[in-house]
Amino acid sequence: MNVHKLRRQKLARKLTKHSVAIIPTAPEVVRSRDTLYPYRPDSYFYYLSGFREPNAYLLIDHTGFTTLWCQPKDMEREIWDGQRLGPNEACQQLQVDRTYSIDEINQTLPPLLLTKKQLWYPSTQAMKQQIYQWCNEATKLNVANGQICPSIEANLCDILDEFRLIKDASELRIMQKAADISAQAHLAAMRLCSLSVNQKLYEYQLEAKILSTFYSHGSKFPAYNSIVAAGKNACILHYVENNATVSPKELVLIDAGCEFQGYASDITRTFPACGKFSSVQKEVYELVLNAQEAAINAIHPGAPFTAPHQAALQVLAHGLLELGILQKNKHGNASDVIANKTYLPFYMHRTSHWLGMDVHDCGSYISHATDINGSQPRALQVGMVLTVEPGLYLRPSAEVPEKYWNIGIRIEDDVVVTKTSHRILTRKVPVDIESIEQWMQS
Ligand code: GLY
Ligand code: MN
Ligand code: MN
Repeated sequence: MNVHKLRRQKLARKLTKHSVAIIPTAPEVVRSRDTLYPYRPDSYFYYLSGFREPNAYLLIDHTGFTTLWCQPKDMEREIWDGQRLGPNEACQQLQVDRTYSIDEINQTLPPLLLTKKQLWYPSTQAMKQQIYQWCNEATKLNVANGQICPSIEANLCDILDEFRLIKDASELRIMQKAADISAQAHLAAMRLCSLSVNQKLYEYQLEAKILSTFYSHGSKFPAYNSIVAAGKNACILHYVENNATVSPKELVLIDAGCEFQGYASDITRTFPACGKFSSVQKEVYELVLNAQEAAINAIHPGAPFTAPHQAALQVLAHGLLELGILQKNKHGNASDVIANKTYLPFYMHRTSHWLGMDVHDCGSYISHATDINGSQPRALQVGMVLTVEPGLYLRPSAEVPEKYWNIGIRIEDDVVVTKTSHRILTRKVPVDIESIEQWMQS
């Protein structure tokens, strides 16, 4: 039985006798006139089917019996747009129980809602409207023959998000491969940067190296828009213009990760453009690296999701005081800095997010046991994957010693929670000062 069928059966076990789940894939999106964006299936749909074609729906009942609607075979369209699996082949290849052409969905789906009380689907506005129409059709049939049709709706994401949060062995294998490809890309960009010190180099040339490395390893898409930020641009968190020149004295921050077989990776490295850190760059880099190490060491089953963030904050708060970016007489000790959030001008994002099919993956960060009066972070469990990405962003200001102005550093790795503690997926690209310098100068 394939992994997608196993997941459908797991979902079915969560459904009651009178409920049914409907899952659409993503729509195609126009980029310009008659040209489309590259197609990517919906993550929930792909998780349950492994099917990449557009114009498809799944319906799963409480026994796991699965109906798929997909594009019909069509010689003319296949000559223009590419091969389609078609309903007959889909039944066997995707191990679903029944298939129809998508052209028949408005006739064939509403009767399947009869005798059902509850309908689970990913609650988007578009789906709500679609479901409303199908339920209307079912109600008409209901009037004719007196059967019930669904009157309760529930958000299927509440179930599937919890499934997706814990990665199984096949998902972890793919995520390791995605991480390996991204590591290769970062290595290649670092090398290109140091080889180009005597030439004019644009950020987009480093981006091109990153993307071409993804592509040449079978990953056709980045998991998110790549950030290639030289010098002061690194202080813009979501800098994606990537069109400035790189000066040899600057640091370069690259936040880039590929998507491989539907799964994301997410790596940030910050390195000196010329291949050698200055002493001032080293001071800040080592602080962020120590914060990252403390954060990663806080990851183990049972630890709260916020433990890595708290560990990173401890190190960063002490370091900001030591470097004189914050002052003891004005801001107090590290505990005061954390309690009063005085670090926020220099570190304004969280340390971690879930990672999986989506770069900011689904799944609650809050414990289900939390009552309405307070929110407790959830405990980490074996198979969860999260990023660890502390940073410091030192814009020019009267508070900050001038030697640190425009330094922006983030270091990001992807970490899976294991039985004993954790495993880092992304360390095929170096992170400590000596190894980065060695790689760039060799
Ligand atoms: N690259 C997006 C992030 O780090 O969250
Ligand atoms: Mn991230
Ligand atoms: Mn990132």
